[in-house]
Amino acid sequence: MEKPIRIGALISGTGSNLDAVVSACEAGRINGRVVFAGADTPGAAGLEKARKKGIPTFVVDYPDIIRTFKSDPDRLQLPADFDAGEIARKQAIANPENKDRLRVFLASRAIAEAELLEQMAAHPFDLLILAGFMRNLTPYFIDRVNTEPGRPKIMNIHPALLPAFPGTDGYGETFRYGCKVGGCTVHFIDYGEDSGPVIGQRCFTIEEDDTIESVKKKGLEQEWSLYPECIRYFAEGRMHVAKQTHTLKNGRLYQRSVVKIARK
Ligand code: GAR
Repeated sequence: MEKPIRIGALISGTGSNLDAVVSACEAGRINGRVVFAGADTPGAAGLEKARKKGIPTFVVDYPDIIRTFKSDPDRLQLPADFDAGEIARKQAIANPENKDRLRVFLASRAIAEAELLEQMAAHPFDLLILAGFMRNLTPYFIDRVNTEPGRPKIMNIHPALLPAFPGTDGYGETFRYGCKVGGCTVHFIDYGEDSGPVIGQRCFTIEEDDTIESVKKKGLEQEWSLYPECIRYFAEGRMHVAKQTHTLKNGRLYQRSVVKIARK
């Protein structure tokens, strides 16, 4: 039996996915425990739920950091190892329309991310799960968590069948597009927007009488079983990332990192 894993969680809202993961740990469906819940705003309702379960919590107040940085940047300290050019390069932002705005964006995020890393350092973890965390994490943060090449350890749950509908309103976009199925995806994050290797997906039918609310409800119910299942694979040491290469009809090579899950 593998050693129980230590799971860190970042949230922004209700935290129903965090709840599902905590319950799966308590029920022994995941061999692990949640060691912290961090939020990007003091108003995240999930923080209270975590506290009630005895899980240490912290807040890195993104709205406050961003506001302060925009109005009075000298009040905040940029991390000594921050390199805006390197981050822009890694995120493939080649020629931004507005260089100043990009710098403000990357610098304020790096300040917030340095604070996140500092808070997290008090709670060693094996896996970091984004459970409704509505912030884009930059390479500054990702590279300081993913320190072992080929062994990513930041998972995200997304409310759509990726690669369709990345971004912040997956169920809304699925519904408005007129899709006949919707779904959710758990993936490792990379530098792109919801573009990292897929770990698991679930889908559901969208009926004629569905509404945006009923679609979200159907989706969340799927999320609550999918996320614990994917975390369980990680905890059981059954998961690895492999580089796959395919030759396309035009002779070009298509290469992508994919997640392989070993059968039990
Ligand atoms: C979930 O639907 C999750 O897929 C979505 O936020 C919701 C959080 O709910 N995440 C994203 O959109 C990430 N881009 P919860 O706070 O109740 O777990």
